[in-house]
Amino acid sequence: MNAKRFYITTPIYYVNDVPHIGHAYTTLACDVMARFMRLDGHDVHFLTGTDEHGQKVEKAAETAGMTPKAFTDKVSQSFRDLVPKMGFSPDNFIRTTEERHYRSCQALWKKLVESGDIYADKYAGWYSVRDEAYYAESETELVDGKRRAIASGAEVDWVEEPSYFFRLSAWQDRLLKFYEENPRFIGPDSRRNEVISFVKGGLQDLSVSRTTFKWGVPVPGDDAHIMYVWLDALTNYITEAGYPDTSAPNWKYWPADIHMVGKDIVRFHAVYWPAFLMSAGIAPPKRVFAHGWWTNEGQKISKSLGNVIDPRALVDEFGLDQTRYFLMREVPFGNDGDFRRDAMIQRMNSDLANAYGNLCQRVLSIVAKNCGGVVPVAGPLIDADAALLAKASGLLARLRTVLAEQSFHEALTIVWDCVGDANRYVDAQAPWALTKTDPARRDTVLWVLAETIRRVTLLLQPYMPTSTARILDQLAIAADRRDFAAWESALASGTALPVPQGVFPRHVDPAAPVVAKPAKKA
Ligand code: MSP
Repeated sequence: MNAKRFYITTPIYYVNDVPHIGHAYTTLACDVMARFMRLDGHDVHFLTGTDEHGQKVEKAAETAGMTPKAFTDKVSQSFRDLVPKMGFSPDNFIRTTEERHYRSCQALWKKLVESGDIYADKYAGWYSVRDEAYYAESETELVDGKRRAIASGAEVDWVEEPSYFFRLSAWQDRLLKFYEENPRFIGPDSRRNEVISFVKGGLQDLSVSRTTFKWGVPVPGDDAHIMYVWLDALTNYITEAGYPDTSAPNWKYWPADIHMVGKDIVRFHAVYWPAFLMSAGIAPPKRVFAHGWWTNEGQKISKSLGNVIDPRALVDEFGLDQTRYFLMREVPFGNDGDFRRDAMIQRMNSDLANAYGNLCQRVLSIVAKNCGGVVPVAGPLIDADAALLAKASGLLARLRTVLAEQSFHEALTIVWDCVGDANRYVDAQAPWALTKTDPARRDTVLWVLAETIRRVTLLLQPYMPTSTARILDQLAIAADRRDFAAWESALASGTALPVPQGVFPRHVDPAAPVVAKPAKKA
């Protein structure tokens, strides 16, 4: 079978510090997307990794009293450890310190030289080590009358050194034409508009090498120069595809379908990167999607405030799938969002324990108690049955549509709308009361419910892989009947079911007990 390919990437993370919620968030969104596309029959390649060069990492190593190599080995491992901890399913983990990546960067550099887009000059201007980015004087302001910083607070240093430049100014019109012809290239639309007006405002040539430190990929033929860390970092996406060997097996994945990024790094991905690629004669990625930033209980997250959220601690306290669900459900993907403990607990209790968990538990316990623990036989359907089944059956198509736009939270509201319907249907049909009066009707109701749970649970697998696996086990769905090819394989009556067990416990906060509100419609 020649499955449709889908290549999705996370940003590669700086190894100056251990992973925090922002890193886990971007990778989680990619993971949900990758799992959904796999279940939907695509040949998925999902890449994450670490960005290990540049001044920022070099400085962090120095502060830690370690060599850059030993330091990056250590910190990169903590990002790798986050993979099983968060249930991520990448196909590979790339490090920019790998030899294959040096080869790829240097080959790309040579292509840029050949196309006439690189020239030697001198850079004199502001540089932020925190952002690894150059800023125009007009973007900076004086702090305390002496040091300069940009609006986000990153300090900038005056840098004056020989440098190679990339002729970005020459790409302005071609980039604008590219955005025009590829309206889906940047999402969401607000970011697309920002990028377009930035490019329309005029592009300056970009300094793409540094001479004042050593930790990076040397410029071919002039190793006094180290490549600008963003040129190096962006190249990881094609290194993984085998570049410069375009006959490599992974080259079939290029161009990438989505680079998922945070809003702070859109410019690098949506302006510099397509310009580099087009200059080198390589197709640009199909889409760059930018999500917003998390704050913590209303405050900006920062090390100095000591309010950095460790995703591992969330998993330990609230559970893996609960954390994954919350991060994807609480905030419309693309918007900024605020992490609040009470909101986390509220979602765990009302959406997971009360609405979805309770639906599964109620239905499966009645089946165990009253139907001899086998999938009951459905008799003739009444309108209410058909309506619920039709709603559940239509979910897959709706999710395909919204997930193509990376609307992760919307997919969940669509599913929960059906969960809500199913709960109201249980109440209205009251299957427990039918045992004495009409057991055949009871069986029909329970079959309709179990089949609805099957469909809902298949769709929730990308978000909550562990819990959904347990629910599908309780429905005795075979391992090869859990992808979307099995969407129409309805539950077979007579199948023996294991003893049901609750999957989503209620959470009682020891710090501040929360009284759960009834499940509310999104
Ligand atoms: N190394 C570069 C990316 C190179 S990609 C070729 C980088 N690394 S990073 O480690 O600083 O940040 C990685 C991602 O984390 C970014 O997408 C950024 O938006 C995200 N986040 C960092 N803090 C965040 C929040 N508080 N909230 C959400 N995401 C945030 O940039």
